[in-house]
Amino acid sequence: MGIEQIKKIGVVGSGLMGAQIAEVASRVGEYPVTMWDMSDELLQKGHEAIRNTHKRFFIEKGKLTAQQSEEIIARIKGTTDMAEVAASDFIIEAIVERMPIKQKVFKQLDELAPAHTCLSTNTSYLNVSDIASATQRPDRVVGTHFFNPPAMMKLLEVIRGTLTSEATAQLAVELGIKLGKEPVLCKDVSYGFIANRTFRAMRNEAVRLVWERVATPRDIDKAMKLGFNHPMGPLELSDMTGGWGIAVSSEEDAIRELGPVEGRVPQLIKVMVRAGYPGGRGKKGMYAFYDEVFSKW
Ligand code: NAI
Repeated sequence: MGIEQIKKIGVVGSGLMGAQIAEVASRVGEYPVTMWDMSDELLQKGHEAIRNTHKRFFIEKGKLTAQQSEEIIARIKGTTDMAEVAASDFIIEAIVERMPIKQKVFKQLDELAPAHTCLSTNTSYLNVSDIASATQRPDRVVGTHFFNPPAMMKLLEVIRGTLTSEATAQLAVELGIKLGKEPVLCKDVSYGFIANRTFRAMRNEAVRLVWERVATPRDIDKAMKLGFNHPMGPLELSDMTGGWGIAVSSEEDAIRELGPVEGRVPQLIKVMVRAGYPGGRGKKGMYAFYDEVFSKW
């Protein structure tokens, strides 16, 4: 299926992420969107959240008129009937981050949706292949990880499960572009995908520095902001996003999935430097090594 065959978009879940993902899809202007949740009350809250998002991010800043906002909202039909949301060409799931619940919903969607329909998950950390295994169409299951708030954040991680077809991954990338996002492709199952996995390493080092009394949280964040031009330091960002509560359980999962990494120099760095790609002072580094050597292995 090509992007032009996507005529209707379904969103499962009208919570923090689901409602805004539905909004992003509707804002394109050419997709009727069906948004599912467990009750009319939840759906109403979802619609209300979209209204507030519009007001805060767009109407008050003159980027949308009240009339346009209402049109976008009107294109999003709420339903508590799973069959109704399943009658879409591309369905994005954004329900609670619990594997058994996601699997149950994917099984239902698989039974109800037309054969060509692609099912995607907005999971932050769960394994896309495990979610896909609840369906008979693992080749048409893919991760589409939006960042919060989806109405504003440009990044979309598209995640391939082990059996996700190239065509499905490409379709998700193209749809992401259509929705105004900048997709990056996570080519294999990876705990934390790209951004959260990379961030985790940085955040953990920052936490160790505090614990070892090497530096204060404020100085660590200042170093990252002034030294690397990060708009926020890893510690204030985690404070702001409430990342610490999740960090405890997700660290245990990460160690189980990725293994302990302390005490090892990443193999890639050693190989790259020995091959004459040390980076710095105009010398070739990671980008060149990847393009010229690693991508050809
Ligand atoms: P939320 O708590 O705001 O919404 C959860 C949704 O799941 C609600 O629509 C709720 O009705 C539904 N739900 C709850 N129990 C259910 C059940 N038993 N069966 C079916 N639906 C059920 O959660 P949020 O933050 O919107 O997260 C949704 C997904 O998006 C999760 O997978 C999360 O990891 C992911 N995500 C969250 C981000 C965030 O910053 N909050 C960022 C990126 C991804």
